[in-house]
Amino acid sequence: MNFLIMGPPGAGKGTQAKILAEKYNFMHLSTGDMLRHEIDNKSEIGLKAKNYMNQGFLVPDDVLLSIMENTLTSLKGIGIILDGFPRTIPQAEGLEEIFQKLDLQIDYVINVHVDKDILINRLTNRAKNSGRSDDTKEIIINRQKVYSELTEPLIQFYKDQLLTINGDGTVEEVTQRILEKIQ
Ligand code: AP5
Ligand code: MG
Repeated sequence: MNFLIMGPPGAGKGTQAKILAEKYNFMHLSTGDMLRHEIDNKSEIGLKAKNYMNQGFLVPDDVLLSIMENTLTSLKGIGIILDGFPRTIPQAEGLEEIFQKLDLQIDYVINVHVDKDILINRLTNRAKNSGRSDDTKEIIINRQKVYSELTEPLIQFYKDQLLTINGDGTVEEVTQRILEKIQ
């Protein structure tokens, strides 16, 4: 089975994806984590991605699509949960092509919804020890703006498959809501 988990910065995509991956024995693929790893390794991709990420902008679609094509090809057959990808319409279209090529399908698209003010609070709290260079108030606000402009249209793109979950509540409550929708 293959899942996508979407939602604005701080919605809890990473938190919930990790729990679901453990429960269902899936591979959790967070493009944010993958890119941060590339930056730590000072790879060519990392060098390209760094400036975009530090300012809260999206890394270009072609970079992400090439990472995802390689990763999904090498994982073919293993259940995955994609966290933070796709994030634009061209990425979603590219993902469809990759899935078609690999004869895979998306089974569930989970959209975690949380109000803006709660998100800013969560991320400014996380900033105290996350070490993430994009967890400053100004950049958090830019990440939200980028989400509204480029990622939110995916709600319409996936409208026939979308399971929208209220992401406000404890981590356990949110997990429970997801499990109720997918079972
Ligand atoms: P990415 O790493 O994906 O960051 P993001 O979308 O901004 O989201 P976060 O990881 O900050 O939040 P989350 O929803 O995972 O929430 P979390 O579980 O951490 O992307 C970073 C950057 O990489 C992008 O800006 C872009 O530059 C680049 N990038 C990545 N993917 C890309 C793509 N496809 N295309 C182009 N560029 C891409 O939770 C947040 C905090 O809240 C934590 O402290 C957590 O403990 C807490 N929390 C979680 N759930 C709850 C709860 N229920 N109640 C209270 N607190 C909670
Ligand atoms: Mg995350």
